[in-house]
Amino acid sequence: MARSLVSRLTWTYASVTALVLLILGALTYGGLARVLGRQLDNGLLATARSEAAYATDQAGGRIHLHDSPKIAHPSGLHHHVQITDLGGRVIAATEDLAGMTLAIDRAALMENAAGRTAYQSRHMMGLPHRILYYPLEYDGRRFSLQVAVSREYIDLVERQLIGIFTVLSLFGLAAVVGLGYALARRAIAPIRQITETAGAISESNLGARIPTAPVADELGRLTHVLNHMLDRLEQAFARQQQFVSDAAHELRSPLAILKGNTEFALRRERSPEEHRGLWRSSGEEIDRLTRLTNDLLLIAQGDSAVTTASWRLLPLDPLVADAVERHRAAAHVADISLTTELQGGSAMVMADEAQIVQVIDNLVSNALRYTPAGKGVRIGTQVTGGTIALTVTDAGFGIAPADLPRVFDRFYRTDEARARATGGSGLGLSICRMIIEQHGGHISVDSALGRGSTFVVHLPGTTA
Ligand SMILES: Nc1ncnc2c1ncn2[C@@H]1O[C@H](COP(=O)(O)OP(=O)(O)OP(=O)(O)O)[C@@H](O)[C@H]1O
Ligand SMILES: [Mg+2]
Repeated sequence: MARSLVSRLTWTYASVTALVLLILGALTYGGLARVLGRQLDNGLLATARSEAAYATDQAGGRIHLHDSPKIAHPSGLHHHVQITDLGGRVIAATEDLAGMTLAIDRAALMENAAGRTAYQSRHMMGLPHRILYYPLEYDGRRFSLQVAVSREYIDLVERQLIGIFTVLSLFGLAAVVGLGYALARRAIAPIRQITETAGAISESNLGARIPTAPVADELGRLTHVLNHMLDRLEQAFARQQQFVSDAAHELRSPLAILKGNTEFALRRERSPEEHRGLWRSSGEEIDRLTRLTNDLLLIAQGDSAVTTASWRLLPLDPLVADAVERHRAAAHVADISLTTELQGGSAMVMADEAQIVQVIDNLVSNALRYTPAGKGVRIGTQVTGGTIALTVTDAGFGIAPADLPRVFDRFYRTDEARARATGGSGLGLSICRMIIEQHGGHISVDSALGRGSTFVVHLPGTTA
């Protein structure tokens, strides 16, 4: 890929340079050819004028010419001069023509007949020539004075110009291609390094980083962004590993209890009471394993894409009332008063029913679990604007300020909760936060040690 980019860049340099040189060459050549051509024509005209004055000088009593023209062309080129009548008959000619006649063009003679000058380019005496036809008045009659000069010199200059320009252009082009190739290779080198390093990174060396150049150019920024992405991937990977090891750890204790119960039952004969006790304990551990497995599954699903296919418009208050009713018996057994204050009216939420019920269950069971006997738990709903609030308030142990920011983390339990050995795994609140955020809401907690806690869930809602 890098090589093709280098060659593409080099080819672009080369073709742009070639095009510029070609246009420059054509313009220079065209301009110079025009200047040289005009100089040649001006020289012809000056010679014609001076020869015309000399020819019609009355001293000789007839049309006459210098043996060779007095005014030479600025280039020092030799001029042939000839005078004809308008019918093309030669009246006088310079000696250098040695009896030959200049080729005569009828159309040019017609121009002279009308008193105008005419120029013509044609091959004569084996060479390219430029000829001027100049009208001449003598003795009341019109004649034509023709001055011819070879273009050989100009053609030579033009050919040399093309030659020099071509050679210089080829050298220039070669230099541009060489330089362009070297520059492109240098510019691409960091990309190659980035590609190689990025290609070598796998889950076993997620800590590897692309070396950063000291220059803060585009590639420097790309490296920075890629390294930043690797930082995030590494952190996510570490979190994932931590999650798996925490999950395994949580699975271990119910399995150890089940194994212990089994060994205890098999060691020797047991009374039916003993067996019942063991089966009850095993049943509780199986419940715990089931809850844990369900929670883990839910988290695994939540980490993949959120689907809204199961979302329905649900009336909030009846949903909360139903969920709370299911905890009444447990509250009664724990001697905790459970009150509701539902002011949601006809508010509806667009949500997955089972997931919202799970959030209510988790919050209410936490409140019951972390509140001592004789105290109360209150569940309320309110609507403010388009937002629905669900509040679960308890008068329990509360949460220390240091623990507050972490209670929504997966597997996080406060020391207080651990000490009570109430059997939670620390996933409940993290699942609540995951569900609520997937529904476009947020969850927060306000708590003071010894005075109780209030969990508030905000969800976008509508009123029917
Ligand atoms: N109402 C509450 N009062 C006091 N502490 C609480 C309350 N709710 C949660 N906590 C603290 O936050 C921790 C995390 O709660 P979370 O619901 O995530 O886990 P858990 O209840 O321990 O276990 P799980 O819900 O997975 O069975 C709890 O262990 C507890 O320390
Ligand atoms: Mg819980």
